[in-house]
Amino acid sequence: MSSPIKASQGAPYSRILGVGGARGNRVVDNAEMCTIIDSSDEWIQQRTGIIERRWVDDEQDVLTLAIEAARKAVERSGVATDQIDSVLVSSVSNTRRFPSLAVQVASALGLPDPAATDLQAACAGFCYGVSLADSMVRTGSAHHVLVVGVEVLSQQTNFADRSTAFLFGDGAGAVVIGPSDTPGVGPAVWGSAVDTGEIIHSDDFAAAAAEGVNPRIHMDGHQVFRWATGFIVEKTAEILEAAGLAPEDLDVFIPHQANNRITDAMLRRLKLPESVVVSRDIKHMGNASAASVPIAMEALLESGEAKSGDNALIIGFGAGLVYAGQVVVLP
Ligand code: ACO
Repeated sequence: MSSPIKASQGAPYSRILGVGGARGNRVVDNAEMCTIIDSSDEWIQQRTGIIERRWVDDEQDVLTLAIEAARKAVERSGVATDQIDSVLVSSVSNTRRFPSLAVQVASALGLPDPAATDLQAACAGFCYGVSLADSMVRTGSAHHVLVVGVEVLSQQTNFADRSTAFLFGDGAGAVVIGPSDTPGVGPAVWGSAVDTGEIIHSDDFAAAAAEGVNPRIHMDGHQVFRWATGFIVEKTAEILEAAGLAPEDLDVFIPHQANNRITDAMLRRLKLPESVVVSRDIKHMGNASAASVPIAMEALLESGEAKSGDNALIIGFGAGLVYAGQVVVLP
């Protein structure tokens, strides 16, 4: 029996039309970090590549960062605000359950009536958002989707744990994804590992509030490192295959900025040509979870190291444990 329901149909393909970023205003170098934890600039740089990280100042918070990045992405996309009909914001830093960050960003930007919702996939959240937006544009449930990743991790850092306290940064990154005549977002390679919830977890918000403290991040760095340099490295190679590309077809590699040694392990497996531009944004940013990939994307385009039309492999992975990645054409 035929169904009376009319299904939507969208554009043949989607692509990123504009990218924007925002960083915490405070630059906290390793020397300052070592006044808080027992460590050294040499140890932190050698183990992770981090030289300094960005933290919010008193004027910034998760919403102001999200709005700043989103505004830049919309302006650069050339898409009129009344044409953006969906907003997805990924964050593990929003301490208010509602209203959603997505609705507040839409309101600040004057978007008339978009579908708006928050996502939560930790460091993979931005790449989850990119794939959802791609599907929305291609099925016709949206025409232009604003995807934002935003974090203020400095306010959830466990400064009593010197093995994680130096890692985190604060920032936001955003893209607008809209219709395209040619493929601009490759297939998602994504998933979640069962029974790994405790490897990276936050305190229970209510329990932390009862103690009068912020919920803090707890991470077994060793286990995450092993997972990232084994399983996630293989998934990174799958992303390239899923897009039908060979290593020499890639121009840019933007992995989650978690640790330069994880990036190095990925590069050894992928055997990318020397010409491929590799993001090392972690050096000056730290790990900004869902914001890390789009902020790094903006930085490479602004510096001229990457250019519009380049093929970029992006991947995020983290608390859950979850991961997601795809090849995208840069705006
Ligand atoms: N300064 C100096 N020494 C330190 C420090 C420090 N800050 N921290 C630990 N050490 C010491 C330890 O005590 C240990 O000493 P020991 O050998 O005498 O016992 C030694 O250094 C090694 O410690 P490890 O914890 O084994 O350090 P490791 O090399 O594993 O590096 C790190 C730690 C950087 C956290 C690493 O495990 C890592 O990057 N893991 C992956 C993190 C990640 O990718 N997270 C992604 C998601 S994050 C999110 O979702 C929010």
